[in-house]
Amino acid sequence: MEIIRVKDYETMSKKASEIVADRVKTLENPILGLATGSTPEGMYRYLIEKYQAGEVSFKSAKSFNLDEYVGLSADDKNSYNYYMFDKFFNHVDILKENVNLPNGTATDLKQACLDYDQKIKDAGGIDIQVLGIGVNGHIGFNEPGTPFTMRTHVVDLTESTRQANSIYFSSLDEVPTQAFTMGIGTIMESKEIILLAYGESKANAIAQMLKGEVTEDLPASILKNHPNVTVIADEKALSQIGRAHV
Ligand code: GLP
Repeated sequence: MEIIRVKDYETMSKKASEIVADRVKTLENPILGLATGSTPEGMYRYLIEKYQAGEVSFKSAKSFNLDEYVGLSADDKNSYNYYMFDKFFNHVDILKENVNLPNGTATDLKQACLDYDQKIKDAGGIDIQVLGIGVNGHIGFNEPGTPFTMRTHVVDLTESTRQANSIYFSSLDEVPTQAFTMGIGTIMESKEIILLAYGESKANAIAQMLKGEVTEDLPASILKNHPNVTVIADEKALSQIGRAHV
C-alpha cells in the first residue's frame, strides 16, 4: 500500500486526477470504478479541466459506480446517477452507453445485483477503482461487519450513515433506507485502487486502516491485502498517524 501525504483537499484532488488521467491515456479501453460523496468532487473537477485542455479523452472509457440508493430514479437530484452526470459525465466525452450505475428503481433487487457484477465481468474487470472512506471505515456502502466475500448486494443503511448523508436531502426522512453497493469481493478484484481521504473526521478510520489488523469491523482494512493500492490523504486525515508510518 503506497501512501501519498498531501497538504490539502485540492492537492489530493489534483494528484488523484493525474493518476486517473494517466490510466485513461495509457489503457486502450479503460474501465473506471467511480465513487460519489464530497471526497472525489475535486478530482472530477480537475479531470474536466484536463479534458477541456485536450489532455485526456474518455471516449474509449467505461465506468462502473460503486453504489446507488434503492428507490431513487436516475433523474432524482439525490441519486448518485444524477450526481455523476452533474459533476462529471455531462462535462466530458464519455459515451452515455458506457456509463454504469446500479439501477435504483430495479424491482428485482437480487437480479439487479447479479446483472451488475456480470456487466463488470463482461467488461473485463475494473482497471482503476476510486474510493472514499466513511467515518466508520466503510467503503462503498459496505458497513462494518460486511463479509469480505460479498459481491454487489443491497444493504440496509445504518442510522449513522443515513444521518451523515442527510445533509444532501431536505430531511432525514427522505434518505433512503437501503442502497446497492459493490461488495468488498467486487472491489478487491479491481486491478488498481486509489483511496482518497481528507479532513479530521476521517483521521480515526485512516489510522485504524493503516495501523490496525485486517478485520471486517473496519471494511477498508481489507485493502492492505490488495497488491496495488494508493492512499492519497491530506495532513488532517493522516493526523493520527506518525510520520514514520507514511
Ligand atoms: C458514502 C458513500 C461512500 C463514500 C462515503 C464518504 O456513504 N457511499 O462511497 O466514500 O460515504 O463520503 P464523503 O466523501 O462525502 O465523506
